[in-house]
Amino acid sequence: MDLDLHERVFIVSGASSGIGLATAQRLLREDARVCGFSRDLDRLTAAYAGTATPRDRLLLLAGDARRPEDVEEIVDSAVRTFGGVHGVVANAGTGVTAGVGAGPEVWVEQFAIKVGAAVALVRAARPHLVASRGAIVLVNGVSAHHPSRELAPVGAARAALANYAATLSAEVAPDDVRVVVVNVGVIETARQREKYARSGATTAYADWCRDEARRRAIPLQRMGRPEEVGDTIAFLLSDRSSYTTGTSIDVSGGLDGRT
Ligand SMILES: NC(=O)c1ccc[n+]([C@@H]2O[C@H](COP(=O)([O-])OP(=O)(O)OC[C@H]3O[C@@H](n4cnc5c(N)ncnc54)[C@H](OP(=O)(O)O)[C@@H]3O)[C@@H](O)[C@H]2O)c1
Repeated sequence: MDLDLHERVFIVSGASSGIGLATAQRLLREDARVCGFSRDLDRLTAAYAGTATPRDRLLLLAGDARRPEDVEEIVDSAVRTFGGVHGVVANAGTGVTAGVGAGPEVWVEQFAIKVGAAVALVRAARPHLVASRGAIVLVNGVSAHHPSRELAPVGAARAALANYAATLSAEVAPDDVRVVVVNVGVIETARQREKYARSGATTAYADWCRDEARRRAIPLQRMGRPEEVGDTIAFLLSDRSSYTTGTSIDVSGGLDGRT
């Protein structure tokens, strides 16, 4: 299927690793133009070192997704460089294993990175998305609709993001701007490596991933690959998905599915 993304312009937050990196690389393979940002420019640049992309199609910038002033500058730079914006992917983020007793700083941080960062990106890009009849993809997690005791602040912030997406999608639909939430399950990114390191497991990493998939009862019996999320996001950003808005899709191997 031709996604027809040639020369379209997309901004991806958290583009140096995992899902953001896989999404940006998929969009570049579709001949799109990508502005990717994250906080550490060296790490971001290194992530694309092996990518055969003409320099005029990739703009890498440093910025903190939680800081509206950073995000406004990034959107302005993308527009100055590429002439417009056809889609944004609010993906930057980190999780934390914590229950309802977590301190206020943990709650504030989770709402800042999950809700505040998405709001900042949408606010800054909205006029450009209206001009291009563009699309917004908000990367969320299945815990948005399945509360978990070990992910209380994360789950609450994700539920809030889902609620925001519902209101946003209704508001921008008359401008032909689409909003889709992607609820990811357990994806094999740096975050899983960190969990493995913290777990003190004596098994090899690949075995730990398999055991973890079994423990989490993922119906497909494995963790997802970042590319599997990136492919879905690229499709949702494209006009092949032009009648899909105000909804969410789980990319979770069936974990916590809502059938
Ligand atoms: N992997 C999973 O199993 C899973 C499950 C549920 C939801 N998710 C969600 O999926 C998204 C991507 O996760 P991932 O696993 O791909 O993570 P990852 O591999 O750790 O990558 C996170 C990316 O976000 C960037 N980032 C973090 N905080 C940022 C900030 N304040 N401003 C700008 N960039 C920031 C990181 O770069 P810097 O640190 O250099 O800024 C990095 O590029 C996150 O929103 C996460 O909550 C993932």
